[in-house]
Amino acid sequence: MSFTSTANKEISDLQQLIEAATDIPSALHAIAAAYPGQVVFSTSFSWEDQVITHFIFSNQLPIEVFTLDTGRMFPETYSTWSSTLQKYRQPITPYYPDATSLQAFVGEKGPNNFYESVDNRKQCCHIRKVEPLQRALRNKKVWITGIRAAHSPNRHDMTQVEWDGSNNLVKYHPLLNWDTDELTAFVHNNNIPYNPLHDRGFVSIGCAPCTRAIKPGEDFRAGRWWWEDADKKECGLHVHAN
Ligand code: ADX
Ligand code: SF4
Repeated sequence: MSFTSTANKEISDLQQLIEAATDIPSALHAIAAAYPGQVVFSTSFSWEDQVITHFIFSNQLPIEVFTLDTGRMFPETYSTWSSTLQKYRQPITPYYPDATSLQAFVGEKGPNNFYESVDNRKQCCHIRKVEPLQRALRNKKVWITGIRAAHSPNRHDMTQVEWDGSNNLVKYHPLLNWDTDELTAFVHNNNIPYNPLHDRGFVSIGCAPCTRAIKPGEDFRAGRWWWEDADKKECGLHVHAN
């Protein structure tokens, strides 16, 4: 089977499972049953991710929940991680940067070199996020994320299921079409622990040195790598989605 027909088949198989399900937890259940041990969910502890974590953990679904701990996350993000473990008592697997690569990079260029050039910033994102992500996705079939269309103009055109050619698997974004009011109401109504930075103007939350709060009316992602031109803001996790 050619590359394209494999991708198309994987997409349509997943779409069928999702369309046959009545809600997101049932869709996740069906996907986990169809691809045992090969479905993973990545969390950055954003409130989108917390909703998906809630669906997975409160229904005890056999889906691995992992996070890419860059070592540079906000203290509030680590607290959210801890409260999530306390509430659900189920594991979240952390993936870490390769120590040798990180040691060489920071040793050569210093701890905050990402402010100095886009190349440095991309290299830092590669070492701290992209390479660990590749390890987390190895031999998996389905990668679930918390991407929403409202995050950025590029994400408006995305579909709930898409092929990720760099990691050779299908991605599923269950909350793609949720609006922000719906999302926050769900979090509050279900007592889901969430990152307190969301109440302080932080909409999209990444690493601490590379994220700031946005002002009313600014694009959701304006607080990420704010010193760079908009067209360069891509960390490499979601190649077409920034
Ligand atoms: S990014 O491309 O800018 O870094 P964003 O913060 O919008 O991504 O998050 C989109 C989705 O990517 C999240 O819902 C989550 O699934 C995944 N993600 C982002 N950062 C991480 C992280 N540090 N660890 C695990 N997953 C992450
Ligand atoms: Fe490095 Fe900033 Fe990318 Fe985090 S967001 S990995 S600190 S460049």
